[in-house]
Amino acid sequence: MEQTITDAARAALYAELPALLLPWYDKNKRDLPWRANKDPYRVLVSELMLQQTRVEAAREHYIRFVRELPTAAALAACPEDKLFKLWEGLGYYSRARNLQKAAQEVSEHGFPCTAEGLKKLPGVGEYTAGAVASIAFEQPAPAVDGNVVRVLSRYLGDALPAAQLRKRYAEELAPVYPAGRCGDFTQSLMELGATVCAPSSPLCLACPLLGGCRTKSDALPIPEKKPERRKTPVTMLLFYAGERVAIWRRKEGVLRGMYAFYTEERALTEGGLAARLAACGAGGAKIGQPTAHRHVFSHIEWEIAAYPVDCAGCEAEVASSFGVVFYPLSEVKAALSLPSAYRWALRLFKG
Ligand code: ADE
Repeated sequence: MEQTITDAARAALYAELPALLLPWYDKNKRDLPWRANKDPYRVLVSELMLQQTRVEAAREHYIRFVRELPTAAALAACPEDKLFKLWEGLGYYSRARNLQKAAQEVSEHGFPCTAEGLKKLPGVGEYTAGAVASIAFEQPAPAVDGNVVRVLSRYLGDALPAAQLRKRYAEELAPVYPAGRCGDFTQSLMELGATVCAPSSPLCLACPLLGGCRTKSDALPIPEKKPERRKTPVTMLLFYAGERVAIWRRKEGVLRGMYAFYTEERALTEGGLAARLAACGAGGAKIGQPTAHRHVFSHIEWEIAAYPVDCAGCEAEVASSFGVVFYPLSEVKAALSLPSAYRWALRLFKG
């Protein structure tokens, strides 16, 4: 690893962190709903949400989620459809599933209070374990997210890509955690990254670390090369009949288990589609003009052609051949959780 300062200078910079950050945090911290209650279940919910979305979007989701499911026991017993509805808009439904599994485990066996114990819960990695252990249990357990890497790499002048720094920062931070204020220390680092040490144009003059900071700029961290996303052509069939629209449950691939519209991960031609409909006795279905849409997942990009298909008179044939179920559009909108890869298409139905 590139080393621009001596170990002693580095240790001295670390040692100053609590005394510089905590008074700043006390004065400047944002009033966020998950800061009002250090119950470990609530901290876990908020930290998982914050890995998926920005603070502003997480705020509303969090308030709604803990109002509906105020305890791990309530989440453990929650039907999946309701859970997904509460998670809607946050993406990665597998995280919601894991959160529920974790809630089932802790309501049965109790909440682990160390980072090591927390890491054994489904879906809880290094970062989440550190965040919950420090915030809810006052353990000296670092939680190094992108914000923290940015703050420390600039402060220490570490000219390396973020991925190479996370582990080292977690190891170096642990010994300087201040007893009794571990949760605030974790959050002060995150808060500084979110509000002052921003990715571009950081507010250095407002920063409590300015005196010792090795860069005083947005020069670091070194940007990481994003992996290429695989582009996949996708055909969505938006079957409808009057006020009813066809819902399909994904059985595999991304979004497995989620409600959706019928999808094939290949480009179907209109001719091919007409032949497919005719073959199942739904030759009377009317295929409308396709709408093109792009949906970007973390590692795949869907290039979607969505065809409205009017199935009036041949609902039953379409339902049995394509494995879909027709529901009133108003019910779909109100009660079903459609992932954002599909939700946009609701506007293509009339009503
Ligand atoms: N990002 C991740 N965890 C956070 C927290 N507890 N407060 C604010 N931003 C965060």
